[in-house]
Order: sequence, then structure tokens, then C-alpha cells
Amino acid sequence: MAFDMFPCKRNCFNACHSRQNTLCSLIFSIAWILQFIGNVHGDEPLGRELLLLLANWLCDNYMKDPLATLIVNNVRLHILPSMNPDGFSLRRRNNANNVDLNRDFPDQVFSLLHLFFPMNNDADARQPETKAIIHWSKERHFTASASLHGGALVANYPWDGTEDRKRNYYACPDDDTFRFMASLYSSSHHNMSLHKEFQGGITNGAAWYPIYGGMQDWNYIYGGCFELTLEVSDDKWPPANELHNLWNFNKKSMLNLVASLVKSGVHGRVFSSHCGGPLPASIAVKGINYSIKAGERFADYHRLLVPGERYEVRASMPGHKPKSTVILLGEEAMTLDFVLDPEITDKESLLRSGCFRGFDSESRFNFVDFLKGPYLGVSLVLIFVLAFLWALVRRKLSLNHFKHRQSVAPKRSGV
Ligand SMILES: *[C@@H]1O[C@H](CO)[C@@H](O)[C@H](O)[C@H]1NC(C)=O
Ligand SMILES: *[C@@H]1O[C@H](CO)[C@@H](O)[C@H](O)[C@H]1NC(C)=O
Ligand SMILES: [Zn+2]
Repeated sequence: MAFDMFPCKRNCFNACHSRQNTLCSLIFSIAWILQFIGNVHGDEPLGRELLLLLANWLCDNYMKDPLATLIVNNVRLHILPSMNPDGFSLRRRNNANNVDLNRDFPDQVFSLLHLFFPMNNDADARQPETKAIIHWSKERHFTASASLHGGALVANYPWDGTEDRKRNYYACPDDDTFRFMASLYSSSHHNMSLHKEFQGGITNGAAWYPIYGGMQDWNYIYGGCFELTLEVSDDKWPPANELHNLWNFNKKSMLNLVASLVKSGVHGRVFSSHCGGPLPASIAVKGINYSIKAGERFADYHRLLVPGERYEVRASMPGHKPKSTVILLGEEAMTLDFVLDPEITDKESLLRSGCFRGFDSESRFNFVDFLKGPYLGVSLVLIFVLAFLWALVRRKLSLNHFKHRQSVAPKRSGV
């Protein structure tokens, strides 16, 4: 079960899947796309309940509460309350095939950086739940994500795995940003930051205990998506009468995490100076060995960064000259568009470099979809009206022509 939350004014809980409602996705695809996933482990059902409560709260409070309004208007928030419904039914950690889904994702081999563990590299052996998440993430281009677990009280961030498979702090290139994100959650929580075991209520995954094949590392390596693993309660399966309290303990954290992420970092679009077309360029920040890619269709990018710092942001795309800009991030997200000049001017190479991507077959396909979809009736009426007008104009023209000939004829005979 997944809910797509869109800022469709009349009904904030409007499930509008891109293929069915291209207009919606055209208007809002530049928004931040965030994701909440619950119940990855079947016997950790609290996330599932909290996410349903979160969805309800957002719908009930849109246009009433400023935080709800900010979130609904600015974020495409995808909520998956349960990734493991079979495990939930069986009241156990693993899915129906007895596989731990949070060990089933491709992982990196640290000695050959950015190659995945061979043991997890067999796509056919992957579980259907994992495949579905991988497919979903590839399609949506999430900026950030959080999965909800239970059994501890801490906000966990990458890396989860270490090179030597030993338990120690293993920082990823975006360690500062992840610490900032994790602290957003823990400091807004009832008492997560007071936990004695974890300073500030946050932990690097590998410093706690290393895991491999987890969703968090995969999202960061593969999806350009910054994911946290949130352990939201010491009690894995709390009694139902505690739900109300647990919701209140986590509510502000969940809302603040989403709202603060919208205000953090830099985002914008990348275009070619040659044809104005969108470029799915790489975006990197000087000093951070990590890059994200702008979207294929709209060339929009969203790069999370800690506020209050100076950054040099660089956009690069094969066939184009890279460009860098120094920015000073304040307490709001910054919009930064790039216009890249092509290195070569011959059209063939520009085509290959993605210059005309904005007008590629996919856009045409979607436009046809758009006509065929919910607007089929409107399109038909339009076509009918146009045809009618055309017939009218033609009739008028031929009448005029006839009259003209009639009025001219006598003069000619007079000559
Ligand atoms: C957090 O608060 C809950 C409920 O008041 C309590 O049961 C739990 O022990 C507290 N945990 C910490 C780390 O303070
Ligand atoms: C950056 O990361 C890549 C792998 O992602 C690695 O091969 C390279 O050595 C790293 N560069 C630096 C300067 O750390
Ligand atoms: Zn778990």
C-alpha cells in the first residue's frame, strides 16, 4: 500500500499516479520528493501505525496548521506504511520467504568502491518487496527518505557497512549532512536525544553494528537519496493503548524532518545554452566526494546540505563545459540554476549529449497520454469545436468569393 501525497488543493489526499495524471506530475515534479517507509521488519509495526497517523494528520490539518500547509504545498511525500505485510501477518522479522528485507539490497564492495557485493548482485534472487522498492526509487528520484524501525530509540545514518567488516565509525562523504538530518529527528523527539547509549540520540550505522545489503546505504550509493533508519521505540511491538503517546513522541520529529529538509540545501535546474533544453547533469559540491544527477525529464536537482555554510557547487555534463558557483547557504533552501555551454557545436554531438532531451520520445508519449487520459473528453470537444469553426470559416470564405465574383463580373462585362 502506498499513498502519493500531492498538493492538489481540493483534496490533499489525491492519489495521482504520474501515468494517469500527467498534468499533476508536470506541475509538481520540481518539488522535493521525500519518502517514508514503515514496517520493513514484519515484527516492527509501530512505523506502519505512525505513518497512517501522519497521513491522516496532514490531510486533517492542511490549510489549518502552517506546518501541514508548508509540507503539502512543497513536498511530494510518498508514504509506504508497510514494506513487509507478509512478515507483519506472521509477526516475524523476515518476509514470507524468510528473508530479511533490510539485508536484501545490493551493497558496495569497499575494496572495489561502488561495485556491489557479489552475494547481493543476483537480481533474480532478490525478493519481490526489494525489487518493488528498487523500481519505485529509480522511477521517482527521491531526495531523501526515512525508514521506520523499532527495538531501539535512535536515528541511524550511513554508512551501515564498513570496509573491514569491523564495528567502527565509518563516515560517508556526506557525514555532516546526515548528522544534521538525524539530529533534526532526535532533537524534536520526546526523549530520543536523552538516550544514554547514543550521544544526541543519533548514530553512524557501522559504529552501532555493521550491516550489509541494507536499504539505507543502497539509497545513498545508488539513488542519490539521503536515507535515515529511524528506530522509533525501544519496544518493538508496543500495546495498542500506547499508540497515542508514541504518536505524540514522534509526530513533531516526522513533521520537522520533512519541513526542515525543504529548507535545507540547494536546488534548481540545468539547461544547455545552445538549445535551452534540460540537461541531466551531475551536481557535485567541492570537498564532498559524492554527486547526484539532475532528473532525466526536467533536469531538476535537489542537493541536501547543512545550512549556514559556504559551498562551491559544480554542474557537469559530458559534451558541455562544467560550471561552478560559490554559495552561502542561509536558513532557507537556495535556488541555483545552471546554464552550460556546449563544448562542440555540431548538432549530431549535441543530440548525443542530451541537448534535446526535453523533446524526446518520452515527452511525446506523455503528451499523447495526457490527451488520452482524464482530458479525453475535453480534447474531443475541442477538436469538434475547431472543426466546426473551420467549416464556418470555409463557408464564409467561399460565400465571399462567390459574391466577389458576382460583383466583379458585371464590371468586367462593362469593360
Ligand atoms: C522516554 O520516555 C518514555 C515514556 O515517558 C520512557 O518509557 C523511556 O524510558 C524514555 N527513554 C529515555 C531514553 O529517556
Ligand atoms: C571518491 O570516491 C571514489 C569512489 O566513489 C573513489 O574511487 C575516489 O578515490 C574518491 N576520491 C577521493 C579524493 O577520495
Ligand atoms: Zn528493523
